[in-house]
Amino acid sequence: MTSSWQDDSQRYGRISRVLHWSMAALLIWQLSIMIYKVTLDLSPADSALVRTHTPIGFLLLLLAVLRLVWAFANRNSRPAYEPSALGTLARWGHGALYLLMILIPSLALLRAYGSGRGFAPWGIRVFEQTGEKIEWMMAPANAVHGLLGWTLLALIVGHVAMALVHHFVMRDGTLSKMAGKA
Ligand code: HEM
Repeated sequence: MTSSWQDDSQRYGRISRVLHWSMAALLIWQLSIMIYKVTLDLSPADSALVRTHTPIGFLLLLLAVLRLVWAFANRNSRPAYEPSALGTLARWGHGALYLLMILIPSLALLRAYGSGRGFAPWGIRVFEQTGEKIEWMMAPANAVHGLLGWTLLALIVGHVAMALVHHFVMRDGTLSKMAGKA
């Protein structure tokens, strides 16, 4: 018998749901704070809210890695994609979300290491201050971290819109696989 902690062909289990909804809440926080930052042209020095960006981003990376591992472990026991153009679009859209959820904070961490200033979210030392700048480690995030972050926001808006279309227009029970009874 499949435990309700695990996924099955009809719905996502509790572990997938905790990972999905906690990341959704943290991503809403993360991207709302960035909208606030660019709207008011703030820097981390100006605002404690903006300073939550790096520790929350690091937590998002840890959760994304766990989620990827869990998705792989459950790859043969998850709700299947419809064999249709919409199903293919969903598969690619979800793949892009996973890719960006890993890539965006990973590039930022590489830059943080390359800056030589060390990194200690919530006082937990992830890497030491070296005082040495390594340009090639900083270049990728300098070039695309923000751009990929806004791309992730656009994909999330599309993802939420499609979940609502499934629920209110198509009424096919797609949303309840992640939000209904586990
Ligand atoms: C999933 C996680 C993350 C998302 C969605 C995200 C998103 C963003 C976005 C949209 C911006 C652009 C703000 C602007 O246009 O000014 C930004 C900037 C920034 N982020 Fe992140 N971020 C994440 C993780 C991280 C992490 C882990 C770090 C540090 C270790 C970090 C450090 C920065 C810095 C220093 C900036 C300002 C410089 C720049 O735009 O590249 N971010 N982030």
